[in-house]
Amino acid sequence: MVVALLLVPRLVWRLANPRPEPPGRPWERRIALWVHRLFYLLTAAVVVAGYLITTADGQPVVVFDHFQLPATLYGLNNQADIAGRWHNGLALALMLLTALHTVAAIKHHFIDQDQTLTRMLRPVSDKRHDIHEVKQQEE
Ligand code: HEM
Repeated sequence: MVVALLLVPRLVWRLANPRPEPPGRPWERRIALWVHRLFYLLTAAVVVAGYLITTADGQPVVVFDHFQLPATLYGLNNQADIAGRWHNGLALALMLLTALHTVAAIKHHFIDQDQTLTRMLRPVSDKRHDIHEVKQQEE
């Protein structure tokens, strides 16, 4: 539920702000764009499937004993089982994508020796990265 609650402001932020251009060749940037989109899509789908398991019998989702998310779609044939299977499969896909993302970040840092990993850990504006990269090229 924490992920579900954080996802909404994150998506609003992402859509309201310009996307920092990832470093790399055009095909690498295209893959990066789709991997990032897939992260959002899988996360949202895991959350929806989890909601459908929990509310399959018409009960609301109780969030930290503070508020409730009402059941909206419930009572479908084998809803909990089917949503459960999707939930597990999508969560596994999310974990595999996370592993791929980690390997790619490590490759960028140690093999390509570019700013990809440091940008993930210490995000600053594109302008400052440009300045940093120019300085590195001058050295
Ligand atoms: C990105 C967020 C989430 C991830 C990565 C995630 C991942 C998982 C994983 C790995 C399992 C264990 C599957 C197994 O081994 O049996 C699980 C089970 C479960 N999750 Fe989630 N989950 C997320 C969000 C949610 C949300 C938002 C809900 C409910 C509103 C939820 C409800 C459940 C339920 C009810 C189970 C038990 C299902 C069963 O017994 O088969 N999950 N989740």
